[in-house]
Amino acid sequence: MNILSPSILAADFCRLGEQIKEVEAGGADHLHFDVMDGLFVPSISFGMPVLSSIRRNTELFLDVHLMIEKPERYIEEFARCGADLINFHIESTEDVEGTIQKIRNLGKKVGITVKPATPAEAVEPYLDLVDMILVMTVEPGFGGQKLLPHCLEKVSAIRKMADVRRCSLDIEVDGGIDRDNILHAIQAGANVIVAGSAVFRGNVSDNVKALLERMREKTVCS
Ligand code: DX5
Ligand code: ZN
Repeated sequence: MNILSPSILAADFCRLGEQIKEVEAGGADHLHFDVMDGLFVPSISFGMPVLSSIRRNTELFLDVHLMIEKPERYIEEFARCGADLINFHIESTEDVEGTIQKIRNLGKKVGITVKPATPAEAVEPYLDLVDMILVMTVEPGFGGQKLLPHCLEKVSAIRKMADVRRCSLDIEVDGGIDRDNILHAIQAGANVIVAGSAVFRGNVSDNVKALLERMREKTVCS
């Protein structure tokens, strides 16, 4: 199933509650939550208190993307604050398997994430252990960047690996996705699409509807 996961990194934080309602009105059912620590990536975003507030105010599926060093330190807290799925970067920890297990033990869905320079083969040992692979299509750290086309080749390579193993994996893409390139990402094999600027610049619910419409076009054609 194809899913749209709007990234609140691009939201107007003074109007966050209202904008989340607009995301719901547009028909999306996931929300992407980017956590940055100023170490793994240069910028700092937001963390647990914001996640808890959102959790109290929405039923949307909360897809948390940790861009932090040693994410294993904070898994319990993000789970407690309401994450439904926790994505962490395989480049950010020496204990990928232990971190996957920690998330599973808390009853949450697990995703592992790769930066643009990390090859597809790096995720191969974990394909049977996770629910999702998140393929970054920009360098993590900032919204509003342009999609790096070579990352979509990696999406195709990972989709092939998963198909060979008959593994029904979600593949998420994140960064620089808009109405023009969203179908390229789906065609490459992604089924969960993050969009920040393409959702929150302009009318939020109209943008969500337009992106969902584009995603359906592909579903009808295929
Ligand atoms: C970047 C974040 C993205 C970002 C996407 O590090 O992981 O989720 O918000 O924003 P856009 O869609 O504007 O590239
Ligand atoms: Zn993200």
